[in-house]
Amino acid sequence: AIATATASANTNIALIKYWGKVDEAQAIPATSSLSLTLGGTRTTTTVSFDGGDGAADSVTINGASPSAVELGRVTRFLDLVRARSGVTAPATITSRASVPLAAGLASSAAGFAALAAAASRAAGMDLDGRELSRLARRGSGSATRSVFGGLVLWNAGHDDASSYAEPVACEMDLAMVVVVLSQRYKPISSTQAMRATMSSSPLFPAWVEASGRDLQVALEAVRSGDLARLGEIVEGNALGMHATMIAARPGIIYWLPQTVAALHAIRAMREEGLPVWATIDAGPNVKVLTEGARAEEVAAALRDRLTGTTVSVRRPGGGVRIEEG
Ligand code: DP6
Repeated sequence: AIATATASANTNIALIKYWGKVDEAQAIPATSSLSLTLGGTRTTTTVSFDGGDGAADSVTINGASPSAVELGRVTRFLDLVRARSGVTAPATITSRASVPLAAGLASSAAGFAALAAAASRAAGMDLDGRELSRLARRGSGSATRSVFGGLVLWNAGHDDASSYAEPVACEMDLAMVVVVLSQRYKPISSTQAMRATMSSSPLFPAWVEASGRDLQVALEAVRSGDLARLGEIVEGNALGMHATMIAARPGIIYWLPQTVAALHAIRAMREEGLPVWATIDAGPNVKVLTEGARAEEVAAALRDRLTGTTVSVRRPGGGVRIEEG
């Protein structure tokens, strides 16, 4: 029988960011990070070690062939799985995202978490959650966290064994409201931007230091259920991350004018009493941390203020899942 497995994973949004690798080959991050896995954002991937197209891995993403760069990344990742499992055959990989890329949510986190689960299972490996998160890390850093649902901590660690994700207990009613400002914008990849930030931004070391404190305050805010405290740290950590890259030489500016407008709108809404705090990843779109019970009200207020944008509510979701059949 040909070894086949299908797995799915949701994407996640970092509340305390991962930005920069101290070891690129092993994907050991400069900082620990904290994220929320979002429901309804699954990518489902099937891997069969069936010989691929005869000589190489055959990859289809959302019904199309990936770019040479994407294909190389998938093959390098499968080479890790082959080296560990002893399987030698090329594979056929079919992957489909349930949410379009244009929805403003990172695809690599869900994609590599699902690929790690499907490929390891198809290769006959039986990995627990921690081991799976370590494997997913080698595909894309943020994929480390998508192995688990809800609130997730990725311990930076210092080597392969100590750099893994784990779920964090959370009684809070959290939601993220995603504001898509631009569909056309083609940002530079996070991998490249991290490299440039680490090698040329004089602000990077200060952010790394601040981030360690931010994480402790964020975890404390979660333990005490203090959304305002958590929100302030989340917004500050993301703005700090962007400050480090804006200070790279040359500066990396993911923001568009609408991004800045959204940040001001969110401040104004906060002054009016709405529980809203912004976070921004490697692109121009803005994600708003809020209370689950008020998420629809917040989304309506954002639609009112930010015309021409697409606003959607995302609630916490589950971790990686092996799909039977
Ligand atoms: C800004 O995980 O996409 O979203 O590890 O190089 O694949 P690679 O980068 P990636 O970076 C995510 C960066 C971020 C912050 C975060 O998700 O923590």
